[in-house]
Amino acid sequence: MKIALIYSSLTGNTEKVAKAIFDSLPGEKALFRNKKDNYNLDDFDIIIIGYWCRRTFMDPLSIDLVKKIKGKKVAAFGTAGMYPDSKYGELCRERVRNIIEEENEFIGDFLCQGKIPEERTNKRLNLPKDDPHYLDEEGLKRHIESRKHPNNEDFIAAQEAFRKIISNHVK
Ligand SMILES: Cc1cc2nc3c(=O)[nH]c(=O)nc-3n(C[C@H](O)[C@H](O)[C@H](O)COP(=O)(O)O)c2cc1C
Repeated sequence: MKIALIYSSLTGNTEKVAKAIFDSLPGEKALFRNKKDNYNLDDFDIIIIGYWCRRTFMDPLSIDLVKKIKGKKVAAFGTAGMYPDSKYGELCRERVRNIIEEENEFIGDFLCQGKIPEERTNKRLNLPKDDPHYLDEEGLKRHIESRKHPNNEDFIAAQEAFRKIISNHVK
């Protein structure tokens, strides 16, 4: 069983989680950055997709990637501004699972928070209060919490999640 981990990362959070997971993967494996590194999907049995969350879904590069994968065992992990254990986080994971399952066997996933750029927080704080993207007190708390992630606990949780996922599929 050969594993490819292919990740997208705009501001570096998902890349950090990707490297932590990759280091702990057993067996034959390769790490790629989506659209920067070349890979041939046919060379691998298991594909792990690393995405950053955008609009309750994968980022656009990861969506393009998943559409190209057919007949493989596929797992995913993501980082998001939203809390992973919220309704939003659950919906994001469900949508990721659904798109993977269209053409593949979904074998598991992981989601944690990732630091939201401060410019983004400030931009949303400065919106008119009736704008749907205006950041209220709860929202601001969440943005500030996101600055602590991904942290060591997230890396360990991600490694543990993938240890289980992969051990069920690499014999
Ligand atoms: C342009 C942009 C759009 C974002 N949109 C969302 C979003 O819709 N939902 C969300 O939970 N987080 C959103 N975030 C936060 C990112 O998902 C989060 O910070 C993630 O860890 C970024 O990963 P990266 O550093 O690997 O790019 C957004 C961040 C950026 C920069």
